[in-house]
Amino acid sequence: MSRTVKVGIIGTGGMGARHASNLTYLVAGAEVTAIMDVDLARAEEIAARCGGAQIYSDAEELIAAPEVEGVVIAAPNRFHAGLTVACIAAGKPVLCEKPLATGGEEASGVVDAEVRGGRRLVQVGLMRQFDPAHVAVKRVSDSGAQGKALVFRSVHINPSNGGAPSLGDVITGSLIHDIHSARWMMEDEIVRVHTSFIPFSSDPPDSARYVMIQLEFASGALGGLECNADAGYGYEIQVSITGETGVVHSSPLQSPVVRHSNASGQWVEEDWLQRFREAYFIEGQAWVQSILDGAATGPSAWDGYVSILVADACILSGEQRQPVSVELPERPELYG
Ligand SMILES: NC(=O)c1ccc[n+]([C@@H]2O[C@H](COP(=O)([O-])OP(=O)(O)OC[C@H]3O[C@@H](n4cnc5c(N)ncnc54)[C@H](O)[C@@H]3O)[C@@H](O)[C@H]2O)c1
Repeated sequence: MSRTVKVGIIGTGGMGARHASNLTYLVAGAEVTAIMDVDLARAEEIAARCGGAQIYSDAEELIAAPEVEGVVIAAPNRFHAGLTVACIAAGKPVLCEKPLATGGEEASGVVDAEVRGGRRLVQVGLMRQFDPAHVAVKRVSDSGAQGKALVFRSVHINPSNGGAPSLGDVITGSLIHDIHSARWMMEDEIVRVHTSFIPFSSDPPDSARYVMIQLEFASGALGGLECNADAGYGYEIQVSITGETGVVHSSPLQSPVVRHSNASGQWVEEDWLQRFREAYFIEGQAWVQSILDGAATGPSAWDGYVSILVADACILSGEQRQPVSVELPERPELYG
């Protein structure tokens, strides 16, 4: 393989365009050579931004193309599993945006395909693992300085998207990141969940304005995830771990404190593309480096699968208004 990884990108909306810019201008050792989007004008715009990448009208053709050594999938969720399996079949490393699939059965199919192939090719876009603020909190907790980790908490604040998302949308679209953070930061499996939520008053009862999920981990530790789906003021993620002798909390905001006209304040980020600017870049760099090193790293297809199983249990718990146990299959050897 050359020392520059030739990347094809499928889906060039908000997230795909961000990956395309990062891989073209920021990530060392990468070149975007192929673009596919059903919106041809959009594909042309992003290809031009990447210095004239080849445009494809068919995703499978892009995956098979000789000038593509690695694939980024940022098309809508319903295409993730099928395209990831196509990348595995072609023997090409793939960075698939979250969620890995639209449900547990589909995600299990991706894991099976990778296990049959005998080597890890999939990295899932559960990118909190690359966010310096999350990494810093985990590092303090892992140091043991505050004793054993007892409680994980995260608060996920979304700006209004103008609609009334369903409980499933909030959990699979947003909280799936926090579910992964909980497993990764606590190095523990979630065994039981209990979801409560407030619907949007004027919309169908399954819409979810504010969601709270209690977690129980296999070790006996506890967790709490919250999501305000319509905060109306900006985007924020807070995370903390309480130990036996202390607590470590991410800094509420990363912007400077400004005092003016007898007031003191900080900017709140507009959305995830602003808040996680650095994390998306570090994620892309880690993915390209893993291809150059010949061994996939980062959140695996197994992590993608388990995050969906936990998310599905959280949705069921909210619908049934009672706690739900999470049943995990045996982890294949491939995932250590
Ligand atoms: N990791 C994160 O933090 C994060 C943040 C936002 C979105 N996402 C994920 O990224 C994916 C895309 O989200 P987005 O916000 O960019 O959405 P988007 O609607 O902005 O973009 C989707 C793009 O896919 C294109 N598309 C539709 N059908 C396609 C097909 N069959 N083949 C190829 N392209 C197709 C659309 O034309 C559009 O350009 C979603 O799966 C979402 O969950 C991840």
